[in-house]
Amino acid sequence: MKVTVVGAGAVGASCAEYIAIKNFASEVVLLDIKKDYAEGKAMDLMQTASLNGFDTKITGSTNDYAKTAGSDIAVITSGIPRKPGMTREELIGINAGIVKEVSSNIIKHSPDVIIIVVSNPMDTMTYLVHKTTNLPKNRIIGMGGALDSARFKYRLAEALEAPISDVDGMVIGGHSDKGMVPLTRLATRNSVLVSEFISDERLNQVAADTKVGGATLTKMLGTSAWYAPGAAVSGLVQAIACDQKKMFPCSTLLEGEYGLNDLCIGTPVLLGKNGIEKVVEIELDENEKKQLHESAEGVKKTNGLLDL
Ligand code: 2OP
Repeated sequence: MKVTVVGAGAVGASCAEYIAIKNFASEVVLLDIKKDYAEGKAMDLMQTASLNGFDTKITGSTNDYAKTAGSDIAVITSGIPRKPGMTREELIGINAGIVKEVSSNIIKHSPDVIIIVVSNPMDTMTYLVHKTTNLPKNRIIGMGGALDSARFKYRLAEALEAPISDVDGMVIGGHSDKGMVPLTRLATRNSVLVSEFISDERLNQVAADTKVGGATLTKMLGTSAWYAPGAAVSGLVQAIACDQKKMFPCSTLLEGEYGLNDLCIGTPVLLGKNGIEKVVEIELDENEKKQLHESAEGVKKTNGLLDL
């Protein structure tokens, strides 16, 4: 199993590290345009192999896509991260050109690749890959919901004063501060609805904190977060690599599901060896449907900024 991670910045390097530590991939190629940067991070990570107990071979490349040839999965993290006060959508001007070039270079050397898009604005970047490559829709996946759901569970556990392992919850919709849809109605504490434990008011605060989870960290860190984004995308890679048929909310091209068409937005999917094995249509109540459609309007508006 060969995995390429494009972008050796904080998110890409964290993703490579988590993939290596999970030890399911034979090789991870970390690629960046900055001279020797990916090679340096790969060497540093390889020097943790004996300490963290993995055999995955991590190599670095300065923009030489021949080194990525034959990749089964490629993760695109390249582009600029947001600064405090910025929205993810404001990154489109620079990141669209980068994602278009990177995806083309990846596919040239790995025609059977499954691409996972992380670069923001992620739903629009995922849509861009659909529009500018000929990959089938099951092999183009956007990572946002897995991260947002992890933040949702973090906030739920905080409100419940429960261990995270007791909590489950999912965020669908756009990966944007205003467009996320935390499914508070369905969230559980060890199979019991969380509404049995916390008030609607507290649950609304959990949802509000979840939606700005990324912006909160960007304000604290001066740049986008990287540990949870890296961990989230490594989970998607593992589900594909190990054919787990595991369910995650991922940005995927909808063609009628949830009453939506011609956009990529976060919905529950099963991930396996073919990438998106199935879009799972869950029963949403009227309020959740309204939120999802409003979120879709926002994503389509950002898509409209693309020069396709
Ligand atoms: C985040 O929410 C980088 O969009 C990513 O942290």
